[in-house]
Amino acid sequence: MQEKQVLLQTKMVLRRREVKKSYVMFSSTFFCIFFLFLSPANLTNGVNFEVLTLIEIKNSLVDPQGVLVNWDIASVDPCSWNLITCSSNNFVLSIGAANQSLSGTLASSIGNLTYLETVLLQNNYITGNIPPEIGKLMKLKTLDLSNNNFTGQIPSTLSHPTHFQYLRLNNNSLTGTIPTSVANMTQLILLDLSYNNLSGPVPRLLANTFNVMGNPEICSTGTEEDCNRSHPKPTSLTFSSSGPSDGGTINQKFAVQFGLSLACLFIIGFGFH
Ligand SMILES: *[C@@H]1O[C@H](CO)[C@@H](O)[C@H](O)[C@H]1NC(C)=O
Ligand SMILES: *[C@@H]1O[C@H](CO)[C@@H](O)[C@H](O)[C@H]1NC(C)=O
Ligand SMILES: *[C@@H]1O[C@H](CO)[C@@H](O)[C@H](O)[C@H]1NC(C)=O
Ligand SMILES: *[C@@H]1O[C@H](CO)[C@@H](O)[C@H](O)[C@H]1NC(C)=O
Ligand SMILES: *[C@@H]1O[C@H](CO)[C@@H](O)[C@H](O)[C@H]1NC(C)=O
Ligand SMILES: *[C@@H]1O[C@H](CO)[C@@H](O)[C@H](O)[C@H]1NC(C)=O
Ligand SMILES: *[C@@H]1O[C@H](CO)[C@@H](O)[C@H](O)[C@H]1NC(C)=O
Repeated sequence: MQEKQVLLQTKMVLRRREVKKSYVMFSSTFFCIFFLFLSPANLTNGVNFEVLTLIEIKNSLVDPQGVLVNWDIASVDPCSWNLITCSSNNFVLSIGAANQSLSGTLASSIGNLTYLETVLLQNNYITGNIPPEIGKLMKLKTLDLSNNNFTGQIPSTLSHPTHFQYLRLNNNSLTGTIPTSVANMTQLILLDLSYNNLSGPVPRLLANTFNVMGNPEICSTGTEEDCNRSHPKPTSLTFSSSGPSDGGTINQKFAVQFGLSLACLFIIGFGFH
């Protein structure tokens, strides 16, 4: 008789535990789904696509000094990487890799870094074509590919970014004519195409300051008219690592996300117990 009662009580306790367990499971699942929707937009299937894109760019470059060594595919985002600056919501704003002895080619996937404003790759040994996909970067303001070994034509798509201000392609081995679309860019503060192997006819260049001297087939000596129009020299382009990214916001956001993930994991773990 007593035994039966004890058994019944035990059963009831177990039952209550089960109800509690399923409640925990239900709420944790709900919580985690809710949290997933809070995740940043640059995550696809839990992977930051800007990390993948930059790894593609790294893989097509040759890096003898190892300056890209902390560009790691396992990173949550690329914002702590050498030579990268991010916005406060962790999108890549700039790549500043001038003077780094880089060779190899520039991957066309650079056109996927939608928020890029500044690309400084001057004074390296990069070969191959300038990827036309750079024209997809609608926020681009500054592109400096000067003093490399780029070949092929100037992509006409470079005229697409509406806020483009500084375009330096000088001291490469570019050939062909200057695309009219690029010549028509009135918003350019500087267009430097000097010391390449460009040919004519030269369209009327509408940039505020331009330079096409040092192209043997159009301006061999630079004394010809309209080879360079240099109004007060624009200040030289330097990469500032203290960019527009807001460290405080990043850290705060990271802490909140870290805490949420930890809570999520804990609740799931507890629920399965
Ligand atoms: C790169 O090197 C050139 C010449 O050596 C120098 O004038 C320039 O300031 C350097 N630029 C950067 C960003 O280090
Ligand atoms: C990135 O760019 C490459 C080449 O432009 C393209 O084939 C690829 O689909 C893009 N990837 C994503 C994730 O947008
Ligand atoms: C790259 O260009 C420099 C100067 O323009 C030249 O001295 C060098 O030989 C070139 N290197 C390659 C690999 O084309
Ligand atoms: C570009 O090449 C010319 C001619 O070789 C040279 O005088 C000039 O210093 C070079 N410009 C840069 C920025 O290296
Ligand atoms: C460039 O401007 C000229 C003169 O305004 C115009 O005739 C031409 O169609 C334009 N070309 C492009 C590609 O925008
Ligand atoms: C420039 O291009 C022409 C063909 O358009 C070629 O014959 C010449 O060798 C090139 N010069 C240089 C310095 O690359
Ligand atoms: C172009 O620049 C060079 C030196 O920077 C100068 O000697 C030359 O007179 C300029 N040409 C024109 C047409 O302004």
